[in-house]
Amino acid sequence: MSNCIAIDGPAASGKSTIAKLLAKKLNIAYINTGNLYRAVALAAIRAGRDLARLDREFLETLKLEYTPNESGDYVLKLNGKELEAALRTPEVATGASLVATESEVRDYLLGVQRNFAGKNLIVMEGRDIGTVVFPDAEYKFFVTATPEERARRRLAQNGETADGATLSEVARELAARDKQDSERPIAPLKPAADAVLIDTTNLNIEAVIEKIIGQIKRSN
Ligand code: DC
Repeated sequence: MSNCIAIDGPAASGKSTIAKLLAKKLNIAYINTGNLYRAVALAAIRAGRDLARLDREFLETLKLEYTPNESGDYVLKLNGKELEAALRTPEVATGASLVATESEVRDYLLGVQRNFAGKNLIVMEGRDIGTVVFPDAEYKFFVTATPEERARRRLAQNGETADGATLSEVARELAARDKQDSERPIAPLKPAADAVLIDTTNLNIEAVIEKIIGQIKRSN
């Protein structure tokens, strides 16, 4: 069994906020795997590559590494540089969803993610953690919220949407991304059969964390 709390779910469902706070409460490391796909997209955009056709050779030129910060969260660096703000743009989000459809990219990043398997429990967040990356994860959660609520949350996040974007534009962009993420043939976004589903539409973050910790305690 992998020492992992897998948290999967669609875009803007609150997974990152939840995963981060949960890791803090349990005093364990947190890894955001969406950032890997975002970093590949960003590097490809910067290199002027066709995002729909990335090959292994290009991927191997990228030096992707996670370094723990002072709170123990793993921060992704590309060629030695932290990327946070550059990763959180609408262009990179759309690009990440596109590169995530390619088998070359997924195979390559699978290795990077599985390198985290070890003796210490970790929180890993993404789309296919409980289904593909760690199908034997010790705990699995699938976090959702209604499309309207997710669009509202995304609009409230600085920099993640285009300047002046409206709620309906953001909802359309999220719907397109959900469709691409859940309909791709390889490792599509879907709950693992043994994942606990949590609808966060009407729950605040503390209530979600309580539910997850309660579930973890019950299964021990
Ligand atoms: O969680 P996020 O919005 O940062 O993820 C960006 C994209 O990366 C998402 O649209 C699909 C892809 N992704 C994936 O395919 N598998 C993962 N484990 C994480 C992200």
